[in-house]
Amino acid sequence: MQIHSAIADLRAALKNRGRVVFVPTMGNLHAGHISLMEQARAHGNTVVASIFVNRLQFGPNEDFDKYPRTFADDCAKLAAAGVDVLFAPTEADLYPEPQEYTVEPPAIQNILDGEFRPGHFRGVATVVLKLFNIVQPQAAVFGKKDYQQLMVIRNMTRQLALPIAIVGGETVRAEDGLALSSRNGYLSAAERAEAPHLYRLLNDIRAAIRSGRTDYAVLENEAISGLTVAGWKTDYVAVRQQSDLAMPKGVNAPLVVLAASRLGNTRLIDNIEI
Ligand code: PAF
Repeated sequence: MQIHSAIADLRAALKNRGRVVFVPTMGNLHAGHISLMEQARAHGNTVVASIFVNRLQFGPNEDFDKYPRTFADDCAKLAAAGVDVLFAPTEADLYPEPQEYTVEPPAIQNILDGEFRPGHFRGVATVVLKLFNIVQPQAAVFGKKDYQQLMVIRNMTRQLALPIAIVGGETVRAEDGLALSSRNGYLSAAERAEAPHLYRLLNDIRAAIRSGRTDYAVLENEAISGLTVAGWKTDYVAVRQQSDLAMPKGVNAPLVVLAASRLGNTRLIDNIEI
């Protein structure tokens, strides 16, 4: 696997490489990321990963400084997964001057996670567009665990007519159902044992909706109460339309249940499509 940190070196390495498929990450890779790398292989002949902890998408009181950085381990995992090229820029490589031109996503950036993480999706869209411009892939893979992020990137790619196919990768879960996430490493043993509760509640809501319930607000509040009793502090549990993350309107619109909640200092997000 080739590793490049300078933009010019990466561009030179990607000349005449055929169809490039790109998987951006912030490192601290787990089986969920590796599954995205494996899915990427089906969409191109050169798989490019990136590792960059993007300061722009973290709020002032968020975990940018303590975000786990495990570069040597990550490189070994990517090489074992058959990734061809790793782009691992430093902050000076990617942001040699303050990033004053940014991508401003529309109203979707202010709902759900955006309501609780102001500016987050601006930071994500800005770095992803910049990475797209650097790597110039024909396809890119993003995990469905970050459902709203995937939608922001899909919509940005379509509206800005970027010639990139956006592929959504399924969430990978531990045996007890917990969605794999770099932030799971922050959990204490007791919190880790409690953490799958979130996914169980999402499943309960899905089962209730499948059995015909449409009182979504009641279902959301029941789940929030269940989490609160178990010691969680919940930002949202929300039943939304898959197409635009708006509140359900039609009877037959495909739905998704999304949640973000904190166990101790760790904020976990998850979702389940119906
Ligand atoms: O999902 C992530 O890891 C990040 O938000 C991304 C897409 C790599 C942008 O920094």
